Amino acid sequence: MRHLLEISDLTREDFFRIIDRGIEHRGNRSLAQKFLDQKTIALLFEKASTRTRLSFTVAAQELGGNVLSLEADMLQLGRGESIEDTAEVFSRYMHAIMIRSRSHENVRTMAAMNRIPVINGLTELHHPCQTLADYMTLKQYGYDILKGNFIIAFVGEGNNVFNSLAAASVFSGSEVRIASPEGYGISPEIRDFLSRNHVTVKEFKEPSDAVRGANVIYTDVWVSMGQEEEVKERKKIFSPYCIDENLLAHADPQHIVMHCLPAHRGEEITATVMEKYSRYIFDQAENRMHVQKAVLEWIFEAL
Ligand code: CP
Ligand code: NVA
Repeated sequence: MRHLLEISDLTREDFFRIIDRGIEHRGNRSLAQKFLDQKTIALLFEKASTRTRLSFTVAAQELGGNVLSLEADMLQLGRGESIEDTAEVFSRYMHAIMIRSRSHENVRTMAAMNRIPVINGLTELHHPCQTLADYMTLKQYGYDILKGNFIIAFVGEGNNVFNSLAAASVFSGSEVRIASPEGYGISPEIRDFLSRNHVTVKEFKEPSDAVRGANVIYTDVWVSMGQEEEVKERKKIFSPYCIDENLLAHADPQHIVMHCLPAHRGEEITATVMEKYSRYIFDQAENRMHVQKAVLEWIFEAL
Protein backbone atom coordinates (compact mmCIF):
# COMPACT_ATOMS: atom_id res chain seq x y z
CA MET A 1 0.00 0.00 0.00
CA ARG A 2 1.30 3.47 -0.88
CA HIS A 3 1.39 6.53 1.36
CA LEU A 4 2.69 10.03 0.67
CA LEU A 5 3.87 11.56 3.93
CA GLU A 6 7.15 13.05 2.80
CA ILE A 7 8.91 13.64 -0.50
CA SER A 8 11.27 10.80 0.45
CA ASP A 9 8.32 8.37 0.21
CA LEU A 10 8.68 8.78 -3.55
CA THR A 11 11.39 7.43 -5.78
CA ARG A 12 13.06 9.88 -8.13
CA GLU A 13 11.10 8.20 -10.93
CA ASP A 14 7.78 8.56 -9.06
CA PHE A 15 8.49 12.22 -8.37
CA PHE A 16 9.04 13.16 -12.00
CA ARG A 17 6.27 10.86 -13.24
CA ILE A 18 3.73 12.54 -10.94
CA ILE A 19 4.84 15.97 -12.18
CA ASP A 20 4.59 14.94 -15.84
CA ARG A 21 1.15 13.50 -15.22
CA GLY A 22 0.14 16.72 -13.45
CA ILE A 23 1.11 18.61 -16.59
CA GLU A 24 -1.08 16.26 -18.65
CA HIS A 25 -3.96 16.93 -16.26
CA ARG A 26 -3.35 20.65 -16.58
CA GLY A 27 -3.73 20.30 -20.36
CA ASN A 28 -7.00 18.37 -20.10
CA ARG A 29 -9.25 18.53 -17.06
CA SER A 30 -11.33 15.62 -18.37
CA LEU A 31 -8.58 12.99 -18.18
CA ALA A 32 -9.36 9.83 -16.16
CA GLN A 33 -12.91 10.96 -15.36
CA LYS A 34 -13.87 7.54 -13.99
CA PHE A 35 -10.66 6.76 -12.15
CA LEU A 36 -12.15 7.18 -8.66
CA ASP A 37 -15.57 5.79 -9.55
CA GLN A 38 -17.21 4.29 -6.43
CA LYS A 39 -14.38 5.58 -4.24
CA THR A 40 -14.62 8.06 -1.38
CA ILE A 41 -11.66 10.18 -0.35
CA ALA A 42 -11.70 11.63 3.16
CA LEU A 43 -10.14 15.06 3.71
CA LEU A 44 -9.44 15.57 7.39
CA PHE A 45 -8.32 18.96 8.69
CA GLU A 46 -6.86 19.77 12.09
CA LYS A 47 -5.80 23.18 10.74
CA ALA A 48 -7.26 25.74 8.35
CA SER A 49 -6.88 25.34 4.60
CA THR A 50 -8.06 26.97 1.39
CA ARG A 51 -5.89 25.57 -1.41
CA THR A 52 -5.42 22.05 -0.09
CA ARG A 53 -9.13 21.71 0.67
CA LEU A 54 -10.33 23.12 -2.65
CA SER A 55 -7.75 21.45 -4.84
CA PHE A 56 -8.19 17.96 -3.38
CA THR A 57 -11.97 18.31 -3.48
CA VAL A 58 -12.07 19.33 -7.13
CA ALA A 59 -9.30 16.90 -8.12
CA ALA A 60 -11.05 13.89 -6.58
CA GLN A 61 -14.44 14.94 -7.97
CA GLU A 62 -13.08 15.43 -11.48
CA LEU A 63 -11.61 11.93 -11.26
CA GLY A 64 -15.13 10.67 -10.55
CA GLY A 65 -14.77 10.14 -6.80
CA ASN A 66 -16.73 11.22 -3.77
CA VAL A 67 -15.14 13.50 -1.20
CA LEU A 68 -15.91 13.93 2.47
CA SER A 69 -14.28 17.00 3.99
CA LEU A 70 -14.08 16.93 7.78
CA GLU A 71 -12.75 19.14 10.55
CA ALA A 72 -11.07 17.22 13.36
CA ASP A 73 -13.13 19.04 15.98
CA MET A 74 -16.34 17.71 14.38
CA LEU A 75 -15.10 14.20 15.13
CA GLN A 76 -14.55 12.26 18.32
CA LEU A 77 -10.86 12.71 17.49
CA GLY A 78 -11.28 16.26 18.78
CA ARG A 79 -12.57 14.82 22.08
CA GLY A 80 -9.71 12.43 22.61
CA GLU A 81 -10.51 9.33 20.52
CA SER A 82 -7.20 7.83 19.50
CA ILE A 83 -5.68 8.34 16.08
CA GLU A 84 -5.47 4.54 15.72
CA ASP A 85 -9.19 4.00 16.35
CA THR A 86 -10.05 6.92 14.10
CA ALA A 87 -7.90 5.49 11.31
CA GLU A 88 -9.40 2.04 11.74
CA VAL A 89 -12.94 3.42 11.45
CA PHE A 90 -12.05 5.59 8.45
CA SER A 91 -10.63 2.53 6.72
CA ARG A 92 -13.97 0.73 7.00
CA TYR A 93 -15.75 3.39 4.91
CA MET A 94 -13.16 5.33 2.94
CA HIS A 95 -10.71 4.38 0.21
CA ALA A 96 -8.00 6.93 1.06
CA ILE A 97 -7.43 9.77 3.46
CA MET A 98 -5.75 13.13 3.00
CA ILE A 99 -4.91 14.61 6.38
CA ARG A 100 -3.68 18.03 7.47
CA SER A 101 -2.41 17.48 10.96
CA ARG A 102 -0.75 19.21 13.87
CA SER A 103 1.34 16.11 14.44
CA HIS A 104 3.48 14.46 11.79
CA GLU A 105 3.91 11.60 14.25
CA ASN A 106 0.14 10.95 14.21
CA VAL A 107 0.14 10.85 10.42
CA ARG A 108 3.01 8.34 10.56
CA THR A 109 1.03 6.24 13.02
CA MET A 110 -1.97 6.27 10.72
CA ALA A 111 0.11 5.27 7.69
CA ALA A 112 1.94 2.55 9.63
CA MET A 113 -1.40 0.85 10.26
CA ASN A 114 -1.55 0.38 6.48
CA ARG A 115 -5.34 0.20 6.32
CA ILE A 116 -5.92 2.85 3.64
CA PRO A 117 -3.54 5.07 1.67
CA VAL A 118 -2.62 8.22 3.59
CA ILE A 119 -1.67 11.53 1.94
CA ASN A 120 -0.08 14.30 3.98
CA GLY A 121 -1.81 17.60 3.23
CA LEU A 122 0.65 19.44 5.56
CA THR A 123 2.04 18.76 8.98
CA GLU A 124 4.39 20.86 11.05
CA LEU A 125 7.28 19.03 9.33
CA HIS A 126 6.36 18.37 5.71
CA HIS A 127 4.18 19.57 2.83
CA PRO A 128 4.95 17.19 -0.04
CA CYS A 129 1.92 18.06 -2.21
CA GLN A 130 3.03 21.71 -2.21
CA THR A 131 6.50 20.74 -3.42
CA LEU A 132 5.09 18.63 -6.25
CA ALA A 133 3.03 21.63 -7.41
CA ASP A 134 6.08 23.89 -7.04
CA TYR A 135 8.24 21.67 -9.21
CA MET A 136 5.43 21.29 -11.73
CA THR A 137 5.32 25.10 -11.90
CA LEU A 138 9.09 25.28 -12.38
CA LYS A 139 8.82 22.84 -15.26
CA GLN A 140 5.90 24.79 -16.74
CA TYR A 141 8.10 27.89 -16.78
CA GLY A 142 10.95 26.16 -18.56
CA TYR A 143 13.25 25.15 -15.68
CA ASP A 144 15.06 21.90 -16.40
CA ILE A 145 13.99 20.08 -13.23
CA LEU A 146 15.77 16.89 -14.31
CA LYS A 147 19.10 18.68 -14.56
CA GLY A 148 18.47 20.97 -11.59
CA ASN A 149 20.74 23.63 -13.03
CA PHE A 150 19.14 26.39 -11.00
CA ILE A 151 19.47 27.87 -7.53
CA ILE A 152 16.50 28.06 -5.16
CA ALA A 153 16.87 30.61 -2.36
CA PHE A 154 14.31 30.22 0.40
CA VAL A 155 13.87 33.25 2.65
CA GLY A 156 12.05 32.44 5.88
CA GLU A 157 11.63 29.69 8.42
CA GLY A 158 13.00 26.21 7.80
CA ASN A 159 9.82 24.30 8.51
CA ASN A 160 7.25 22.29 6.53
CA VAL A 161 7.31 24.04 3.12
CA PHE A 162 11.08 24.48 3.13
CA ASN A 163 11.70 20.91 4.32
CA SER A 164 9.77 19.36 1.44
CA LEU A 165 11.21 21.77 -1.11
CA ALA A 166 14.74 20.99 0.06
CA ALA A 167 14.04 17.24 0.02
CA ALA A 168 13.14 17.50 -3.67
CA SER A 169 16.64 18.72 -4.45
CA VAL A 170 17.75 15.13 -3.77
CA PHE A 171 15.91 14.28 -7.01
CA SER A 172 16.57 17.44 -9.05
CA GLY A 173 20.10 18.20 -7.89
CA SER A 174 19.29 21.91 -7.71
CA GLU A 175 21.21 24.09 -5.27
CA VAL A 176 19.17 25.06 -2.21
CA ARG A 177 19.87 27.99 0.07
CA ILE A 178 18.04 29.28 3.09
CA ALA A 179 18.18 32.65 4.82
CA SER A 180 16.61 32.67 8.25
CA PRO A 181 17.08 34.24 11.67
CA GLU A 182 19.19 32.36 14.20
CA GLY A 183 17.22 29.43 15.62
CA TYR A 184 14.66 29.35 12.77
CA GLY A 185 16.77 27.69 10.08
CA ILE A 186 17.09 24.16 8.84
CA SER A 187 16.45 21.46 11.46
CA PRO A 188 19.23 18.99 12.29
CA GLU A 189 17.04 16.09 11.04
CA ILE A 190 16.55 17.65 7.61
CA ARG A 191 20.21 18.64 7.41
CA ASP A 192 21.20 15.03 8.19
CA PHE A 193 18.69 13.62 5.74
CA LEU A 194 20.00 15.89 2.99
CA SER A 195 23.64 15.22 3.73
CA ARG A 196 23.00 11.44 3.71
CA ASN A 197 21.62 12.07 0.23
CA HIS A 198 24.58 14.21 -0.83
CA VAL A 199 22.73 17.53 -0.79
CA THR A 200 24.23 20.46 1.06
CA VAL A 201 21.95 23.34 1.88
CA LYS A 202 23.76 26.66 2.05
CA GLU A 203 22.62 28.48 5.15
CA PHE A 204 22.68 32.26 5.52
CA LYS A 205 21.64 34.88 8.01
CA GLU A 206 21.53 37.71 5.46
CA PRO A 207 18.77 37.34 2.86
CA SER A 208 20.86 39.24 0.28
CA ASP A 209 23.64 36.64 0.57
CA ALA A 210 21.20 33.78 -0.01
CA VAL A 211 19.51 35.50 -2.95
CA ARG A 212 22.75 36.46 -4.75
CA GLY A 213 22.54 35.05 -8.29
CA ALA A 214 19.56 32.83 -7.38
CA ASN A 215 17.04 31.83 -10.03
CA VAL A 216 14.08 31.08 -7.78
CA ILE A 217 13.29 33.08 -4.66
CA TYR A 218 10.79 31.31 -2.42
CA THR A 219 9.08 32.49 0.73
CA ASP A 220 6.44 31.41 3.23
CA VAL A 221 4.61 33.09 6.11
CA TRP A 222 6.50 34.25 9.20
CA VAL A 223 3.86 32.75 11.48
CA SER A 224 2.78 29.23 10.60
CA MET A 225 -0.44 27.63 11.77
CA GLY A 226 -0.07 26.65 15.41
CA GLN A 227 2.41 29.47 16.13
CA GLU A 228 -0.20 32.19 16.66
CA GLU A 229 0.96 32.88 20.20
CA GLU A 230 4.34 33.96 18.85
CA VAL A 231 2.98 36.55 16.39
CA LYS A 232 4.50 39.60 18.04
CA GLU A 233 7.92 38.07 18.58
CA ARG A 234 8.06 36.55 15.09
CA LYS A 235 7.06 39.77 13.35
CA LYS A 236 10.03 41.43 15.01
CA ILE A 237 12.55 38.64 14.44
CA PHE A 238 11.58 38.08 10.81
CA SER A 239 11.27 41.74 9.81
CA PRO A 240 14.59 41.70 7.85
CA TYR A 241 13.34 38.66 5.89
CA CYS A 242 10.91 40.38 3.54
CA ILE A 243 11.08 39.83 -0.22
CA ASP A 244 11.13 43.33 -1.64
CA GLU A 245 12.52 44.84 -4.81
CA ASN A 246 15.83 45.80 -3.15
CA LEU A 247 16.42 42.21 -2.16
CA LEU A 248 15.52 40.92 -5.61
CA ALA A 249 18.13 43.23 -7.17
CA HIS A 250 20.72 40.68 -5.90
CA ALA A 251 19.08 37.75 -7.71
CA ASP A 252 19.75 36.45 -11.21
CA PRO A 253 18.14 38.95 -13.62
CA GLN A 254 15.78 36.23 -14.94
CA HIS A 255 14.63 35.14 -11.46
CA ILE A 256 11.08 34.25 -10.47
CA VAL A 257 9.43 34.54 -7.06
CA MET A 258 7.37 31.73 -5.58
CA HIS A 259 5.09 31.57 -2.54
CA CYS A 260 3.03 28.64 -1.28
CA LEU A 261 0.31 31.05 -0.04
CA PRO A 262 -1.45 32.34 2.00
CA ALA A 263 0.57 35.55 1.59
CA HIS A 264 0.85 38.32 4.13
CA ARG A 265 1.64 41.39 2.07
CA GLY A 266 3.91 43.74 3.97
CA GLU A 267 5.40 40.89 5.99
CA GLU A 268 7.30 38.13 4.12
CA ILE A 269 6.58 39.73 0.73
CA THR A 270 5.71 43.26 -0.37
CA ALA A 271 2.48 43.96 -2.23
CA THR A 272 4.53 45.15 -5.22
CA VAL A 273 6.54 41.93 -5.45
CA MET A 274 3.42 39.86 -4.94
CA GLU A 275 1.72 41.71 -7.80
CA LYS A 276 4.70 41.41 -10.12
CA TYR A 277 5.08 37.64 -9.67
CA SER A 278 1.42 36.72 -9.14
CA ARG A 279 1.37 34.78 -12.40
CA TYR A 280 3.82 32.23 -11.00
CA ILE A 281 2.40 32.25 -7.50
CA PHE A 282 -1.20 31.63 -8.56
CA ASP A 283 -0.06 29.00 -11.06
CA GLN A 284 1.55 27.24 -8.09
CA ALA A 285 -1.83 27.31 -6.37
CA GLU A 286 -3.63 26.06 -9.49
CA ASN A 287 -1.11 23.30 -10.02
CA ARG A 288 -1.96 21.85 -6.62
CA MET A 289 -5.16 20.56 -8.20
CA HIS A 290 -3.56 19.11 -11.34
CA VAL A 291 -0.67 17.43 -9.59
CA GLN A 292 -2.88 16.04 -6.82
CA LYS A 293 -4.91 14.22 -9.46
CA ALA A 294 -1.62 12.53 -10.31
CA VAL A 295 -0.95 11.90 -6.60
CA LEU A 296 -4.34 10.17 -6.34
CA GLU A 297 -3.45 8.04 -9.37
CA TRP A 298 -0.07 7.22 -7.83
CA ILE A 299 -1.51 6.36 -4.42
CA PHE A 300 -3.86 3.85 -6.06
CA GLU A 301 -0.93 2.41 -8.04
CA ALA A 302 -2.08 3.55 -11.48
CA LEU A 303 1.13 5.56 -12.03
N1 CP B 1 -0.40 26.29 0.36
C1 CP B 1 -1.37 25.70 1.08
O1 CP B 1 -1.26 24.55 1.52
O2 CP B 1 -2.50 26.45 1.23
P1 CP B 1 -3.70 26.15 2.25
O3 CP B 1 -3.16 26.28 3.63
O4 CP B 1 -4.73 27.18 1.93
O5 CP B 1 -4.21 24.75 2.00
N1 NVA C 1 4.29 27.18 6.90
C1 NVA C 1 2.89 27.45 6.67
C2 NVA C 1 2.45 26.87 5.36
C3 NVA C 1 1.04 27.16 4.96
C4 NVA C 1 0.66 26.49 3.69
C5 NVA C 1 2.08 26.87 7.82
O1 NVA C 1 2.41 25.77 8.29
O2 NVA C 1 1.12 27.52 8.25
